[in-house]
Amino acid sequence: MRKFNNVLVTGGAGFIGSNFIRYVFDKTDFEGRIVNMDALTYAGNPASLADVGQEHGDRYVFERADIRDKDVIKRIFEVYDIDCVCHFAAESHVDRSIVAPDDFIQTNIVGTFNLLQVAKERGDKTELFHHVSTDEVFGSLGDAGYFTEKTPYMPHSPYSASKASSDHLVRAYHDTYGLPITISNCSNNYGPYQFPEKLIPLMILNALEGKPLPVYGEGINVRDWLYVDDHCSAIWTVMTQAAAGETYVVGGRCELRNIDVVKRIAALVDEFAPPLPSGKPRAELITFVKDRPGHDHRYAIDCSRLEHDFGWRQTETADTGFAKTVRWYLENSEWVESVRTGAYRQWIEKNYGKRS
Ligand code: NAD
Ligand code: DAU
Repeated sequence: MRKFNNVLVTGGAGFIGSNFIRYVFDKTDFEGRIVNMDALTYAGNPASLADVGQEHGDRYVFERADIRDKDVIKRIFEVYDIDCVCHFAAESHVDRSIVAPDDFIQTNIVGTFNLLQVAKERGDKTELFHHVSTDEVFGSLGDAGYFTEKTPYMPHSPYSASKASSDHLVRAYHDTYGLPITISNCSNNYGPYQFPEKLIPLMILNALEGKPLPVYGEGINVRDWLYVDDHCSAIWTVMTQAAAGETYVVGGRCELRNIDVVKRIAALVDEFAPPLPSGKPRAELITFVKDRPGHDHRYAIDCSRLEHDFGWRQTETADTGFAKTVRWYLENSEWVESVRTGAYRQWIEKNYGKRS
């Protein structure tokens, strides 16, 4: 088992990064320090980690910093004596990458390159560089078959192309310079603290407010859903146990058509929240809208290798995970309201200033 002293988590104020930091402190035997480096873009919210800061004192440090700036990365590595990187920071939303791809190139490709350069320049001090990636790099499946570690890359959106590019850079730093890296490519996550531009939180919040539930095309695209803590446990497993240079695909064995996800979320909101003034079931809010350009038809992961090599298993099913998630959004109205109204941006500007 690998052990780390000072782990740099990039993008730790985002959805998966914040859940990962909480997971490592609460559910592993990690005894070191986590430095969370995050630029606080629209997707970053320190409120997602308010409890972590209070509970773990100087074992948790937050640095508002941008991976597009190599000098800043260098300073952070030196000041905190970083020996491991878990790299989440990215522009992550496919629809945004279609209308404004520039930031995806700068952050996902150039930012990853900057981190790799600094990690390489640190020589033996770098124990591990773990890169958190996506199954979207493999493109789209038809109605049969699964993505595995051997699936060739065929990204379609600017987002997935930028992530594919970063994966290639990470492997190149291992093969060329011997940098100890691992990579995980995961399917769609859901759970607490997810920004409501992604399907599940958007549907929960719209359903609560009685707004339309926009389903792209005919709603027949398929995604493989994984509860965020199960992704975090997979990442930690790979970081601590996988051999350097290895890649693992991670998924939920939970394929669902978008329309079925939206119907289930609408029904759960009906179950847990007060009824709409009209008294109608929320599934009646479903509205079919123009499809996403280049919309990948189906993602599905065969995660046998992760299960076989380390005995990794997911703990949540769609039934338990969706219900937990809907309840979380209902019970955390302060976080939800500050994101919904944009108040979290005002708080960030007041405390950290505007992003440069
Ligand atoms: P997110 O958009 O919720 O969070 C991204 C975080 O990165 C934010 O806190 C943001 O402020 C930060 N960030 C963005 N640009 C930055 C920069 N230049 N410098 C420093 N910080 C920056 O994303 P997420 O859904 O938590 O995804 C995290 C990672 O996991 C991404 O790399 C994504 O590709 C990957 N991933 C996501 C999913 C998913 O379903 N969400 C699935 C598989 C892989
Ligand atoms: O597969 C992993 C990827 O999952 C991650 O790499 C990405 O960072 C993450 O955003 C996610 O990408 P998707 O594009 O699959 O997620 P999104 O939540 O945007 O959409 C899920 C599906 O729902 C997709 O088929 C598009 C559809 N959709 C989405 C939205 C926002 C709708 O039908 N209506 C919507 O309003």
